[in-house]
Amino acid sequence: MKTYHLKTFGCQMNKHDSERIAGMLDMHGWQATTEPHEADAIIFMTCCVREKAEERLQGQVASLKALNRPLIAVGGCIGQRDGEKLRAQLPHVDVVFGTHNVARLPLLLERARETARAQVEVLDDTVEDFAADLPATPEHAFHAWLPITVGCDNHCTYCIVPTVRGREKSRPFERIIEQAENLVADGVCEITLLGQNVNSYGRDRYGAPRFAELLTAVAATGISRLGFATSHPKDLSDETIQAMASSSALLDYLHLPVQSGSTRILTAMNRRYTKDEYLALVARIREAMPTIALTTDIIVGFPGETDADFADTLNVVRTAQFAGAFTFLYSPREGTPAAAMDGQVPADLAQERFDLLVEEVQRSARAFSETLVGTRASVLIEGASKRDAGILVGKDRHYRTVHVPVPPQSTANVWEGREVEVDVDAASTWYVSGKIVTR
Ligand code: SAH
Ligand code: SF4
Ligand code: F3S
Repeated sequence: MKTYHLKTFGCQMNKHDSERIAGMLDMHGWQATTEPHEADAIIFMTCCVREKAEERLQGQVASLKALNRPLIAVGGCIGQRDGEKLRAQLPHVDVVFGTHNVARLPLLLERARETARAQVEVLDDTVEDFAADLPATPEHAFHAWLPITVGCDNHCTYCIVPTVRGREKSRPFERIIEQAENLVADGVCEITLLGQNVNSYGRDRYGAPRFAELLTAVAATGISRLGFATSHPKDLSDETIQAMASSSALLDYLHLPVQSGSTRILTAMNRRYTKDEYLALVARIREAMPTIALTTDIIVGFPGETDADFADTLNVVRTAQFAGAFTFLYSPREGTPAAAMDGQVPADLAQERFDLLVEEVQRSARAFSETLVGTRASVLIEGASKRDAGILVGKDRHYRTVHVPVPPQSTANVWEGREVEVDVDAASTWYVSGKIVTR
């Protein structure tokens, strides 16, 4: 039997695409292996959103030279962006594919093997296929990624994603509902709807239902836990807030990337909202859902960012009381408008601000964790902790990580995928701890 090892970098969309790749390869008689040195093919699903993500790929592909010469395939966003060029940089790569033709990977691998010649195939976004329609081998039986849109029509000036994922396209409403119903029938407990900007769902389909209606319809399938990512603040409608607040399936959690707290920088980023508009939106969300956990993405060191701009960012973190934030140093991406802007911020200054921001975010995250102490949480158990086999790790309905000891006289695997009640008794910055309530 031919074996493959799949390595995934980047965002949830890549994680999803990897589950479809696994599904197809499994169907074509391949078998997954966690050991790269045993694999007949190693597939990299890549990300180019920041430079760091790219460096990791170069290093890993290079280290595989030492292996027993498996087929090496590079797909995802670097595959899409670089195509043929990638072969020049990494000559021992056998297959290059992009974001619009994941369905073709089994065929490209076969051809590379039979002909012993490299296969490079990158298509543009006029392809009408959605990877979400392919068979999937999910990472966890209890969770499913469900893409509702692909691509992005926004033009955030720092961002490479629209270049590598193409124009925004919404999947048909009925197809999404049908898939959600099938997932529920298969015993899936949690669905995450996916899109670069889920809030603009349906905008490209004349007369089609919009995101709020889709959310309500997916919630009505009987799914226990429903989440989505990602939301662009400029498109988060009051209808969506109401749909979230009125459905018990929706997680009490929202990821709402702010990127910067300075209106001047937000304008330069082409985000199309101001600091005050973002904070007013947060206030409306909290009014409808008082206990909601809000998380965000923040970029530090965007061109032209001054101390005053950065102070605004710290101020937004304090005011919005985020439960967590992904913080990034600005990374110029070739071909994006921001990469050519004046006033690139020196690395040491950006790092200084970054460290201050991380401290502020940690304070805010811990404060959120502390609000959970003494409460009873509903937790979906994901499995045993990688560091300590005696600890189960799961997520509560705020999407906060929860640690509990494996109950006596049981093993970790019997709890995987189960929803349990937990009495929370301690807070850490990024997780809370407690005990499973036994009746
Ligand atoms: N579509 C999603 C995710 C985009 S990529 C969204 O709009 O929220 C994920 C995050 O990477 C972004 O939210 C942004 O904070 C960060 N990011 C994107 N391009 C970047 C760049 N050039 N430098 C640093 N961070 C970047
Ligand atoms: Fe990038 Fe902006 Fe689109 Fe998100 S919304 S993928 S940050 S262009
Ligand atoms: Fe990276 Fe591509 Fe996602 S660039 S963030 S994997 S869309």
